[in-house]
Amino acid sequence: MSMPDQIHPPQSGNAAEFVAHNDDVFGRIASRYDRLCDLFSFGIHRTWKRRVADIIAQEEWQTLLDGATGTGDIMLRVLEKQLPASRRIIASDISPQMLAIAQGKLGQHGEQVRLCQLDMHSMPDIASESVDAYSISLGLKICQRHLALQEALRVLRPGGRLIILEASNIRPAWLHKAYLTYMSICTPAIAWMATGGDASAYKYLLQGVREFPGAEQLAKEMQDMGFSDVQFERLSLGIVAVHTARKPL
Ligand SMILES: C[S@@+](CC[C@H](N)C(=O)[O-])C[C@H]1O[C@@H](n2cnc3c(N)ncnc32)[C@H](O)[C@@H]1O
Repeated sequence: MSMPDQIHPPQSGNAAEFVAHNDDVFGRIASRYDRLCDLFSFGIHRTWKRRVADIIAQEEWQTLLDGATGTGDIMLRVLEKQLPASRRIIASDISPQMLAIAQGKLGQHGEQVRLCQLDMHSMPDIASESVDAYSISLGLKICQRHLALQEALRVLRPGGRLIILEASNIRPAWLHKAYLTYMSICTPAIAWMATGGDASAYKYLLQGVREFPGAEQLAKEMQDMGFSDVQFERLSLGIVAVHTARKPL
């Protein structure tokens, strides 16, 4: 699968300055992505993603879109909750290699899931107001988040819920600084060993974690863009936060 050529506007709100069309890093590391997640977070990403799946499960939805689904961690945790058969998940990502790994994990749940190659910035295959819930886990810092959030507003039905898991700001601020220092020393070493020297595997992660807005600022951005009922919850002291919001009725 190849994406059509597109005109890319300036990289507004792209914390990591990552452009998927310029660097196929997720294609290169797809088979090692799950292991890298465990290494970078000491396995804690599993707890964060379980929390996201719990929030999604509390919501009334028939169609869930999971953007930047990667190897499918969120959709699989949602599927573990024994959904009614009428519910459908669209799991999308820009990388066909990541989608192929997700496909391999679906097992008995294949009927409830449609895997699609989509760019979060513009998803013409998804009709306006056709989605009841939209999740993005660890994808917003590596895209133009203003474009992706606008697109979320388009595809969500009025009242539909957006759920975002992303890097955030630890409180107190001195601890956040210490965390960034630790990350900038340890992440390159871990990634270098785990990928055989692919610098992209940590470059975007580090830059994204450093530059992504703190929880309060992201909440304000979402409000300013027109989302209602914006809330956030810091996890692991604020290493990440889950933001939720609704498209106004
Ligand atoms: C850090 S991974 C997150 C994967 C998964 N959601 C998780 O929580 O583990 C980021 C994913 O975003 C995808 N991605 C990057 N830019 C994208 C874009 N513009 N549109 C859709 N997916 C994108 C990458 O291919 C990758 O699979």
